[in-house]
Amino acid sequence: MAVREVVKFGDPILRQKMRPVDDFEKLPDLIQDMFDTMYEKEGIGLAANQVGINLNLMVLDIAHTEEMDDPMVCINGTILDSWGETILDEGCLSIPGIRLDIKRAEKVRYAYQDIHGNKFEEEFDGLLAKVIQHETDHLNGKLITDRVSPLKLNQHKKQLEQIVQNNFTV
Ligand code: NI
Repeated sequence: MAVREVVKFGDPILRQKMRPVDDFEKLPDLIQDMFDTMYEKEGIGLAANQVGINLNLMVLDIAHTEEMDDPMVCINGTILDSWGETILDEGCLSIPGIRLDIKRAEKVRYAYQDIHGNKFEEEFDGLLAKVIQHETDHLNGKLITDRVSPLKLNQHKKQLEQIVQNNFTV
């Protein structure tokens, strides 16, 4: 068990589409580390590329919110369908200090595999639906900064440049 370094905005792995998982045997250590890292940073979701690993895998836990769901691991996931529209003020562990209003679907139909490779297809709404969409974006190389207008993004230009710069000075 270990808390891993969270990859920050500006790192190329955050812009890549993640490879499907085909070997489920080696995942438990990575998944435990991802949960440790997510809890340490007080996140509610984390994608594998945020710890520098090129695999289509996310961990989620919104248990400390009013929705009281159990922790989830979603592997090789796809959003099959979506309904409605909602706006939430979102942050991202890879973009510290910045929050942006992001428009998402209210409800999604999502297919994924669990840690054993079992296949599921379920509908999610509420916060869990939003976290699934946020992490699915990550696994497709997309960030919340891609989902706001250039004008809005410009308000955070200095902070974003600072995060990129910190990648080279650590
Ligand atoms: Ni994020």
